[in-house]
Amino acid sequence: MSVGIDEVSFYTSGQFLDLKTLAQHQGIDPNKYYDGIGQEKMAMPSLDEDIVTLAANAALPIVERVGRDAIAGLLFATETGIDQSKAAGVYVHRLLGLNSNSRVVELKQACYSATAAIQMACAMVARQPARPILVIASDVARYDLQSPGEATQGCGAVAMLISDNPRILEIAPEVGNHTEDVMDFWRPNYRSNALVDGKYSTKIYLKSLKRSWENFTEQSSVTYADIDYFCYHLPFGKMAQKAHSQLARVNKSGQTPEQLEQQIEPTLLYNRAIGNSYTASMYIGLCSLLENSSQDLSAKRIGLFSYGSGCVAEFFTGVVQPGYQAALHQQKHQRLLRERTELSYEEYLKLYHYANPTDGGHHELPEQTQGNFRLAAISEHKREYIAR
Ligand code: HMG
Repeated sequence: MSVGIDEVSFYTSGQFLDLKTLAQHQGIDPNKYYDGIGQEKMAMPSLDEDIVTLAANAALPIVERVGRDAIAGLLFATETGIDQSKAAGVYVHRLLGLNSNSRVVELKQACYSATAAIQMACAMVARQPARPILVIASDVARYDLQSPGEATQGCGAVAMLISDNPRILEIAPEVGNHTEDVMDFWRPNYRSNALVDGKYSTKIYLKSLKRSWENFTEQSSVTYADIDYFCYHLPFGKMAQKAHSQLARVNKSGQTPEQLEQQIEPTLLYNRAIGNSYTASMYIGLCSLLENSSQDLSAKRIGLFSYGSGCVAEFFTGVVQPGYQAALHQQKHQRLLRERTELSYEEYLKLYHYANPTDGGHHELPEQTQGNFRLAAISEHKREYIAR
């Protein structure tokens, strides 16, 4: 049976820092960021936004189309959890008015968990085809100021409806995995910023790609040459270029640099303007491919490499469905990115340094986001979300 992504919608904050502003403040050449890491802007959440509001805003167009009762469950992938016990998806479930006879759970494994959620959702739909599952990946990427990771921050959420006879991408059941206990990137519970061994993390990413690919070729008859485009996890754009060159080398593809670039370039455009959004990142890259490719992608096979530090990695593929263009939210996404406000360095620092109150008092949050949902207050340690 055919199972996969029926609809995909993403959301990010309405404000960003251009990396040239960061470079100017640091007294370095902006091309280190624009060309060296392949990033241009990073989205910064406003004070009344978090993974819940980003997620609800991403999922709203899907829920409005299929209806609130059509969704059988919500799998919420994040590594920016707002609570050690309660799943962020439960707040989203209320904000979207989903049926109370549905299942909600939160999943964590760094940037990888959205892929686990999709595979679980595919298995659930294969068991009960009439019951689509909503998968949401939502994250805010934060690193220490003045650290090499600072320029790779960002935020975003992506919502995907997993169903039978999907309109966008049929996901093949064969996958290749690699898991290894490594400390390349982690965030202890007492820290709000990730710790990272940057250079090591890129090496482990590439090693995991090679191992996942080797495992994939043992599981699947699909060859490198059968794959038309490649979506890689995107901590920054240059990582995908390094990854794709390596995979081509491993497969002795003999492609020119231009041919390699064509297979990944459309996947990079949205992330270049958003930054890392951890779990959401690769799937925003998939949107970017589907919505920016100059070719009709119908029947094209996409290879997807999902990487979560720590680490768990997975290579899998999907085939784009004829007529997929009608299921996209291209105009909404491009308007969202176009209409954002640029932050000054001082405004960026102010947002960066803001910390949610922890004293148990009643704190109203300033109305900043343009989205349909906002975090209105934190009161008695409870987050109060409202719909507009
Ligand atoms: P860095 O060490 O400051 O950068 O930060 P660099 O000095 O290596 O320079 C980067 C590139 O820019 C180099 O090119 C330079 O040559 C070039 P490369 O050798 O890589 O091809 N460059 C210039 N280019 C043009 N004009 C110039 C110029 N100057 C230099 N003027 C680092 C890089 C990745 C370490 C940093 O960004 C970082 O720590 N990032 C965070 C960690 C990360 O993203 N790791 C990626 C793999 S792990 C992963 O993907 C998982 C993750 O998403 C988390 C999760 O799973 O939850 C992070």
